[in-house]
Amino acid sequence: MKVTHWPLHGLRVRTPRLELRLPTPDELDELAELSAQGIHQPGTMPFAVPWTDQPPAGRARSVMQFHWRTLGEWTPQDWTLPLVILLDGTVVGSQSLTGRAFPIMREVETGSWLGLRHQGQGIGTEMRAAAVHLAFAGLNAESAVTAAMTDNPASITVSNKIGYRRNGLVRTVVGGTLRYKQHFALDRDAWEAHRTVPVEIDGLEPCLPQFGL
Ligand SMILES: CC(C)(COP(=O)(O)OP(=O)(O)OC[C@H]1O[C@@H](n2cnc3c(N)ncnc32)[C@H](O)[C@@H]1OP(=O)(O)O)[C@@H](O)C(=O)NCCC(=O)NCCS
Repeated sequence: MKVTHWPLHGLRVRTPRLELRLPTPDELDELAELSAQGIHQPGTMPFAVPWTDQPPAGRARSVMQFHWRTLGEWTPQDWTLPLVILLDGTVVGSQSLTGRAFPIMREVETGSWLGLRHQGQGIGTEMRAAAVHLAFAGLNAESAVTAAMTDNPASITVSNKIGYRRNGLVRTVVGGTLRYKQHFALDRDAWEAHRTVPVEIDGLEPCLPQFGL
């Protein structure tokens, strides 16, 4: 694919097992299918916007529309990078990074999910390590934030292992129910102190203006 006018298509973030990048149309379709097959057990809701509470075909379409919407609405002042995760060439999940007024804020917010059958094998930790490496090493961020429902131990454990500190507990309503969202923040020193996953970035330089840099 030619990347002259949208260099983000040439951006690659690699860990020992994973590659994170923008998906091809076929890979986006694979990601959508993964969501249709299930991201979490019925009766649980890890997301603040309960988009997985719809039939499989609707879930799949919303994955595709989220992807196109984020790229369509991209500005250097307000961007969301919707990366797919590839394990041995197979799409296993999604990792997004959001930056608002990034050159001033120097903060990214991350969100992620894996297909159910790919969970619990350390992939979530490895992809978050890749995302925060892109933020701190690639984009020179000063802070990375995320949040998880208090009944989501997998996500909370990943945040703890990467070195985030707890940054407030917030009440929120999801699908008409009161839920508690644990916020987390990671600064550069804590990131460096907890780094265990080697990460490589390729193709970032031509993308910097798109990140507002
Ligand atoms: C959250 C998510 C991305 C994490 O990815 P993952 O590959 O499953 O996570 P990992 O295997 O790297 O690590 C999960 C950790 O949580 C721990 N864990 C999982 N379930 C647990 C439980 N019920 N109690 C305690 N610890 C638990 C695991 O033991 C593991 O820790 P360890 O490596 O020290 O053993 C993935 O589970 C997922 O997609 N979940 C559904 C969607 C979601 O919750 N997205 C995040 C919204 S905030």
